[in-house]
Amino acid sequence: MIKPLKKAVLPVAGLGTRFLPATKAMPKEMLPVVDKPLIQYAIDEARAAGIEEFCLITARGKDNLIDYFDVAYELEATLRGRNKVSAIEALESSSVEAGSLVAVRQQNPLGLGHAIWCARNFIGTDPFAILLPDDIVKGGRSCIAQLADVYRQTGGNVLAVNEVPPEWTDRYGVLLPGEDDGKRVEVKGLVEKPAPADAPSNLAIIGRYILTADVLEPLSHLKQGVGGEVQLTDAMAELIGKVPFHGLRYEGTRFDCGSKLGFLEAQIAMAVDREDLGQDVRAFLKKYI
Ligand code: G1P
Repeated sequence: MIKPLKKAVLPVAGLGTRFLPATKAMPKEMLPVVDKPLIQYAIDEARAAGIEEFCLITARGKDNLIDYFDVAYELEATLRGRNKVSAIEALESSSVEAGSLVAVRQQNPLGLGHAIWCARNFIGTDPFAILLPDDIVKGGRSCIAQLADVYRQTGGNVLAVNEVPPEWTDRYGVLLPGEDDGKRVEVKGLVEKPAPADAPSNLAIIGRYILTADVLEPLSHLKQGVGGEVQLTDAMAELIGKVPFHGLRYEGTRFDCGSKLGFLEAQIAMAVDREDLGQDVRAFLKKYI
């Protein structure tokens, strides 16, 4: 039986060193793209896939993220008093239903695999999505909803994948592809950050996954992998051949907001598409190029 997908885990424990000093006193996931923090893009995308329960894997100094999803009574009262309707509306998407969001601390930065393992009690025996909020996927339909379509057909694990320039394989988890219909590809092997010469393909995982709870077992005994970290990719690799395993070339454009260039590109791509800003942004961009 294929269990319905209702849960998402969002690893947000990273230090955000690439954005210092901006991230000295605020979590990088709170950096806004136009007027919405990165974490909100991930939550909105998950909600659009019917996901109702969220688990943030946080760390010391990142409590703002939890405050962000709380109700801001004083702010709302002040806005109401001043009849700021659009500002009140803007706040709506940031509150979650009572009891639908929990946070777990990853006490030590031991890697993405360890972060997911920290969510084991939240996951239980259910399938779950993982959204790395550094990645924003812009396009028609929620990327996780696209993965969920495949999951409902095949069950098992589904990863969002993308062809990357061959010299970039050492930045990603990379697939050894099996049967491939041009969109959906069977996963025959997985390697975390292989050197280009050792990479089984240039099909890379981006920060969107749907996994079954089976991944918790290998995560519970995994040793440190590439970069001295417990790698989610290594745990997933142990499940190949045991559960259905697919990659999906999703529709949409992915921005790596964990890098300065990707973050800036996301700002521009999102801004030029906005009804309230697009025209003006296009006009002022011409001044600089
Ligand atoms: C992580 C994963 C990697 C994946 C990438 C997607 O790497 O370990 O497999 O391809 O996210 O963004 P990180 O970017 O944390 O180094």
